[in-house]
Amino acid sequence: MDVEMVKVGILGSGEVGRALGKGFVSRQHEVKIASRTPNSDKLKTWVDQAGKHASTGTFADSAAFGDILVLATNGSAIEAAIDLAKPQNFNGKLVIDVTNQLDFSRGPPPGMLYSPTDSLGQRVQRKLPSAKIVKCFNTVPNSQMVDPKFKDVEMMICGNDPAAKQQVMKILKEFGWKGAIDIGGIENAGWLEAFVPLWARVGMSLNTWDHVFKVVR
Ligand SMILES: NC(=O)c1ccc[n+]([C@@H]2O[C@H](COP(=O)([O-])OP(=O)(O)OC[C@H]3O[C@@H](n4cnc5c(N)ncnc54)[C@H](OP(=O)(O)O)[C@@H]3O)[C@@H](O)[C@H]2O)c1
Repeated sequence: MDVEMVKVGILGSGEVGRALGKGFVSRQHEVKIASRTPNSDKLKTWVDQAGKHASTGTFADSAAFGDILVLATNGSAIEAAIDLAKPQNFNGKLVIDVTNQLDFSRGPPPGMLYSPTDSLGQRVQRKLPSAKIVKCFNTVPNSQMVDPKFKDVEMMICGNDPAAKQQVMKILKEFGWKGAIDIGGIENAGWLEAFVPLWARVGMSLNTWDHVFKVVR
């Protein structure tokens, strides 16, 4: 597949940020992962393993660097992370929102911080009105985001901008996904976020953590 090289700023250096970052680098894109501690040993190891197109920076460095941005922070920190990244760095850009609003205050399995009708996806879109937020990858574990072992599963995505969703579908194909099911505008993000407490309960029942949900039709 012929895909042009893009610069990707990944806001978040947890398992998700590092897995997607490695995925983008493996497809010849340039990646700068953001952290409040960009020179940590964890990230030095990640850069060494990911290769010459990988780097780290502050949230503001990474957001300014990326033509495409990925939000991969802890769900409760997303607004603080955007402030660190500077909202103007998001203007007009595709922003892939991978975050989940998991509430562990009562222990596992998690509940939700807000509700399906006031999701992180909507909160981010409200905070960044000129960014093109596409909710994607949040329903699958980081181990399956790139080169998934389940080859016949479609990712579920949503967002307001049709061209941005097309761009995300191209990225999904690059990463080895069969395709995507577009469930509509960003007002649907909470229903994708609501998958994840269920995903955790299924994991606890089956004692498996690389499972995904598949739409059969
Ligand atoms: N783990 C999975 O398989 C999976 C799958 C799908 C979706 N998700 C969702 O993806 C997101 C990332 O998950 P994760 O497991 O990779 O990591 P995580 O532990 O949920 O979050 C780690 C990231 O959050 C940042 N962070 C925490 N507090 C912050 C604050 N006050 N200001 C700025 N940044 C802050 C950390 O920044 P520093 O580097 O500066 O510490 C770190 O980069 C979450 O929303 C999660 O629910 C996870």
